[in-house]
Amino acid sequence: MIIVRSLQKMQALAIKWQKQGRSIGFVPTMGSLHQGHVSLIKKARRDNSVLAASLFVNPSQFGPKEDLAQYPRPFFRDKRICRENGVDVLFCPREQEMYPKGFNTWISVDDLSKPLCGAFRPKHFRGVATVVAKLFQLVLPTRAYFGQKDFQQLRVIERMVQDLHLPVKIVGCPIVREQSGLALSSRNSYLTRAQRLAAVNIYSALRAAEEVIKSKSYVSEREVRRAAEVVLRKARGLRIQYLSVVEPSTLKPLTRVTGNALVAAAVFAGKTRLIDNVLIRKS
Ligand code: PAJ
Repeated sequence: MIIVRSLQKMQALAIKWQKQGRSIGFVPTMGSLHQGHVSLIKKARRDNSVLAASLFVNPSQFGPKEDLAQYPRPFFRDKRICRENGVDVLFCPREQEMYPKGFNTWISVDDLSKPLCGAFRPKHFRGVATVVAKLFQLVLPTRAYFGQKDFQQLRVIERMVQDLHLPVKIVGCPIVREQSGLALSSRNSYLTRAQRLAAVNIYSALRAAEEVIKSKSYVSEREVRRAAEVVLRKARGLRIQYLSVVEPSTLKPLTRVTGNALVAAAVFAGKTRLIDNVLIRKS
């Protein structure tokens, strides 16, 4: 495995691979890797002839009061995980090169960025879309892998790729969870033992919502939300930021659930914000 920091070197390498007719798999990350990231890396390894992963804690997707400075950066561990899982190139761009003085171009995927997390993190998806588009220009992937854990992010990237005619196939991958049900996240490392125990209820709540939806052919959004809220309220130390039932492709709110639905939540355990979702297929 080689480590590349220079943007120009990364792009030159990608152009060389393209000329050789190789398929390029790409897994963008912010590091602090866990089995969720590893599942993406393994899938990308199986599907492609060369595999690049990136480690870049992207400042433009963090709000002013968010955890950019404290975001974990265990570089040596991340490097080992990538090497052990067959990454060929670990791309670790420098912030000054990604966002030099005068940087002034942004990509925003308007409607999909507004609901759910976008309502509370106004510039977040603009930062994500922009950095992912930049990374795509540097890595020139054939296929890029994203987790459904960040469902809205996945939809934003799919829309961007479609709207800008980017020649990359986006592959969505299932959420990896602890045995307890808690979705793996780099931010889980912020949790105390008690918070981690409470956080398990996020998935239980989403499952409760799923059960209500599956038990009836017609159910109101309020009923679904109430089923999940009951579980979350019982858990001590959790604060709901949002709990929404939306149509999975547009992310528009549903008032009644008859077909497919996404139940998504952002919940605070102390100061740590956790997100999770379940995708329910009825039709
Ligand atoms: P990061 O949070 O490091 O996540 C990198 C990728 O791993 C994302 O596609 C995310 O959805 C996926 N992932 C995280 N936890 C997962 C889990 N439990 N199961 C399955 N996949 C999981 O998402 C980002 O970084 C950034 O926004 C990025 C796309 C790199 C742009 O900066």
